[in-house]
Amino acid sequence: MGIIELRSDTMTQPTDDMRRAMAEAKVGDDVFGEDPTINRLEEMAAERLGKEAALYVSSGTMGNLVSQLAHCGRGDEIILGSHAHTFFFEQGGSAAVGSIHPRTVPNQPDGKLALEDIEMAIRGDNVHFPRSRLILLENTHNLCNGCPLEIDYMKAVGEIARRHKLKIHVDGARFFNAAVALGVEPKDLAAEADSVSFCLSKGLAAPVGSIVCGTHDFINEARRARKVLGGGMRQAGILAAAGIISLNEMVHRLAEDHANAKKLAAGLAEMPGLSIDPDQIHTNIIFFEVTQADMTPEQFVQRIEAGGVRMLPVAGGQKVRAVTHYHITAADIDRALGVISKVMG
Ligand SMILES: Cc1ncc(COP(=O)(O)O)c(C=O)c1O
Repeated sequence: MGIIELRSDTMTQPTDDMRRAMAEAKVGDDVFGEDPTINRLEEMAAERLGKEAALYVSSGTMGNLVSQLAHCGRGDEIILGSHAHTFFFEQGGSAAVGSIHPRTVPNQPDGKLALEDIEMAIRGDNVHFPRSRLILLENTHNLCNGCPLEIDYMKAVGEIARRHKLKIHVDGARFFNAAVALGVEPKDLAAEADSVSFCLSKGLAAPVGSIVCGTHDFINEARRARKVLGGGMRQAGILAAAGIISLNEMVHRLAEDHANAKKLAAGLAEMPGLSIDPDQIHTNIIFFEVTQADMTPEQFVQRIEAGGVRMLPVAGGQKVRAVTHYHITAADIDRALGVISKVMG
């Protein structure tokens, strides 16, 4: 029996259709704008998110960074969550590369930033202050149990942003998971955002790549930023071909991943020595706590791996993360729960 890989949806392998499309892709020099496959993927992505234009980039990290560079100048400030992936896991690229000052406000358990916290964080015109420029939201929110942010919340943040002449960027690494979980059109969920980045290489199963969407002017700036970061790829249509399959074939099935995550959470909630509230699970990411006194998350993960199940211990706490994806079936969840039940029994 194979390993049940629940560490991340980045572990997904390209499908047979993707491999075929990659082998047959028509390509050209994308820095010259001449790769027909990339051009098509970018047009499709812009259309799906209701934006004027899109840009293919190598990763979610690059998508967030080129977006910040396009929106902000040296010394400008971004407002983002204390648990934002961009703040935690992107090497502080905002400051390190962009000279952009991050101002964090607490993430609520559901991934939102409280509206009053956003308002309070916005700087007035004062010679001592950096200039507030951008609100950065994450949808779904990785560290907040993969929670999706709803359209009503986006509208409320949009109202604040307009009133203060700020831009909104959404780190939508799992943006389609959010749209599917909420049962809304991606373009409606994206409407309040000036830019959205999303990953093809997570639940959508492409081997490489992310997309940034926004206005023509924004994408021109993001394209310049991509080039200076060394992200101008040439015949990368060979990779983008897989991304086209992601958009055409992999979005609708994300609901299965969400159902499997719920099933896993419900099973874990029944186990002694583990703690999770399944009602908090809405998409494909779950976090739970190891509460058994003599077991660390690292030990828990080692023991289940011996039974063929992989999960990720979260550094510095009692938590473990599991993520469902294309290669995980409902039967795999049953098998994983069987292994975990033996470990905890
Ligand atoms: C919410 C979020 N944003 C951005 C990223 C970065 O994506 P990448 O690993 O492609 O750079 C991730 C990766 O897991 C993520 O979860």
